[in-house]
Parts: sequence; structure tokens; C-alpha cells
Amino acid sequence: MHTVRPGFSILSEAFADDPYPYFAWLREEAPVHYEPAIDSYFLSRFQDVKRVLTDHEAFTTETLQVRAEPVMRGPVLAQMTGAEHTAKRKIVVRGFTGQALQQQTRAIHSNAAELLAPFLPRGRMDLVNDFGKTFAVYVTLDVLGLDKRDWQRVAAWHSGVAEFITSIVLTPERRRHCLDCAEQLEAYLAPVIAQRRRDPGDDLISRLCTAEFDGMAMTDREITALIINVLAASTEPADKTLGLLFKHLIDHPEQLAQVRQDPDLLPAAIAETLRCTPPVQLIPRQAEGDSVFAGTTVPAGATVFCMIGAANRDPDAFTAPDTFDIHRQDLGTARSFTAAAQHLAFGTGLHQCVGMAFARAEIETVAAMLLPLLDRVRYSPGFRYRETGLYTRGPAALSVDFTPVRID
Ligand code: HEM
Repeated sequence: MHTVRPGFSILSEAFADDPYPYFAWLREEAPVHYEPAIDSYFLSRFQDVKRVLTDHEAFTTETLQVRAEPVMRGPVLAQMTGAEHTAKRKIVVRGFTGQALQQQTRAIHSNAAELLAPFLPRGRMDLVNDFGKTFAVYVTLDVLGLDKRDWQRVAAWHSGVAEFITSIVLTPERRRHCLDCAEQLEAYLAPVIAQRRRDPGDDLISRLCTAEFDGMAMTDREITALIINVLAASTEPADKTLGLLFKHLIDHPEQLAQVRQDPDLLPAAIAETLRCTPPVQLIPRQAEGDSVFAGTTVPAGATVFCMIGAANRDPDAFTAPDTFDIHRQDLGTARSFTAAAQHLAFGTGLHQCVGMAFARAEIETVAAMLLPLLDRVRYSPGFRYRETGLYTRGPAALSVDFTPVRID
């Protein structure tokens, strides 16, 4: 058993403010950190995290029955296994790849242009709150085939759903609020599902309504859960990654200049952002039997949190892991958005993110648009950078100044 730094807690304010300084110590001294208040184990070494995410017999997604199902209104992809998981995952994947992805890339472009227009002449914008959050919701609504005029309502319900899934501790009042959001979202989706069953289009909801599993159409409950699953899984990590990408580039002006000069470097910059500061920091699993990590036994039935931020900075996996370097040789851009990814920002194994290719297209398209527009981009005077979130983590804001753009 490793010694625990007296008073250290993953639930402490200091850790929430900035978890990165703790990661090396956790990996070296407490690679199996037990958090008594929530009766859970936190793993921080790359190899241990990889083992948990790929040994599907020993570590299951049972925890999601409690963590996600109540707000998803039914079982989510990550809870499924075997033939059901393969079949339903394929249906969702088809909505985000190939021809569908090409159409969506056009929608990504027009959504970004529409949202950026009012800010460009001002020469100042908060990339997270003025742009990124709305942009990510707009894009997801387009993919699903939902009306963008409803985005504020959908975004508010979605944030309740996300709060439920990503809170480590939830008060009864917040729990009630989150469940209310999920119920309202479900009620909003019911007539949409009925309409798409009658008159399908080429959006993801129509695909879900017309696809069959085991020779049978999916029920409304199954479709609702998959829609909420995609809504919750796709928006937050995407807007956080965009904010983090610009934060790293502003902090590393020489790399920003290189990406400006050669936009083919953008995928490497996005991959390195995901390795260095993964927006999904924790992935939960349940231990089916007793298992031993670094000499410590994690008992059967325990909740195990994989610490993606710590694993992605493990020196056993990456050289100079705390350095942001878009040219690093040990990441491999081409495979960074595939099942062969070296970093763990998209998870790994059966439940690895279905939206990897889409996330790359989304962030690459919008960053390629923003870079030439944001000439001389820098933090606004007086801006203080701050990140929030234990489970998903990203900038609270990213206020930047740039040369105002004249729009004739
Ligand atoms: C940079 C952006 C993104 C990041 C960092 C990210 C991260 C992740 C991670 C870590 C998981 C694995 C969870 C687990 O093992 O339990 C996951 C799963 C998933 N992601 Fe993403 N994601 C991103 C974007 C997206 C997008 C754009 C979509 C939808 C288009 C999406 C849809 C999903 C779905 C449906 C799953 C569940 C897959 C399954 O269980 O089989 N994600 N994502």
C-alpha cells in the first residue's frame, strides 16, 4: 500500500483548481488512490488505465446504471456489451462518418461563420462563452436533425443531464433539477421521434428510427437514450478541446506561428491538446473481481476511476510528458483519432469514443477558419485563465483580443 500525502483528496479545492501538479506524485506514490468519502479508487498510471479500459470482463460499465441511465432515460451505448453494443454502435458511427461527415463539415463551417460574425469587427471575444459552447450545441443539433431555434432550451436541459453524469457528489436538490431536465428533454424528443418514424430524413434521429436491431425497430425509449447519449457525449468535450487548443497555442507563440503558416499541422496540434489536457478527465468502471494494481488490491464491486489526464502525462508512455509539443514523435497524428491512438483522451477498447473522426473534423474546420481571422490573437488585458471540472475539464472562459475584422 502506498502512503497517502496527509490531507490529500481528489475532492479538495486545491485539486479542483489545478490537478496537474498532483499527477506525478499520484503516479509515483499513490497509483491506486482510495477516496473514502465516495468509496472509489483512482488509477493514474498509463498501463493501469489501459488495462482497466481494455479488460472488459474484469472491469464493466455497470456503474453507468446509476451514473447515467436515470438522465439518459434508458441504457446508453457505454452500458451495452456484445452483439447489441456492436449493432447500435455501428448505427451511430454511420451517422458521423463517410458521406454523413462530408455533409456535416459544410454545416460546421456555416454554423461557425454565423456565430463568429458579430464578434469579428469588435476585435474581442470569449472563445468559450461567446462562441465555443453555442457552436458545439449547434453542430450537434444539426447532426441529430433538431431545430436550432430550440438551442437554448436544449442546451439548458443538456447541462442538467451532463451535471448528473459528471458530478462526483450531487445534492438532492441538484439531483432533482437534473432529473427534471432529463424529463423535459425526453418530452421534447417524443414528437420528433414520432415525426421521423413517419417521415424520415437523412439526419441521425431518422437513422435511429429506421434502423433495425435483431430484426426489430428500436423502441422510443432506446432511441431517446441514444439521442441523449450523443447530445451529452459530443458537445462538452468538443467545446472544451477548442478552448484548450487556443490556450496552448497562445501560450506557445512559436507553435502558433508554425500552425498559422502550415495549417496541415492542425491535426497534430489538436492531438497534442487532447493528450496534454484531455477534456474527459475521468472514466468510471466497476471491478467485477478482486484485482491487484501496484501491490494494492481493488476489491470486487469497487468503483474505479481512470484518471486520463494523469495517464496521458505518464513518462512511461510519453517523453517530456508535461511539455506541449505539436511535433512530438511519440503521439502519431494519423492514429490519434483512431482505435490505434496512443493517447487515452478518447478512452480505448470497446467503448472508445464513436465521435473521434467527427470531433477531429469539427475542431479542425473551425480552428482553420479562426486562425486567419484572429490576427495577433492574445489574452485580453486583465484576463486570468482558470479551468473548471473534475470529470470533464476545460477553460471557464478564454477572452482574447485580435485585430478587428472589417465585414463589408
Ligand atoms: C474531443 C472531443 C471528444 C472527446 C475527448 C471524447 C471522449 C470520449 C471518451 C473518453 C469516451 C469513452 C467513455 C468510456 O470509455 O466510458 C467517449 C465515448 C463516446 N463518445 Fe466521445 N468524445 C469526444 C467527442 C465526441 C463526439 C463529437 C461524439 C458524437 C459525435 C461523441 C460520442 C461518443 C459516444 C456515443 C460514446 C460512447 C461510445 C460507446 O460506449 O460505445 N464523442 N468519448
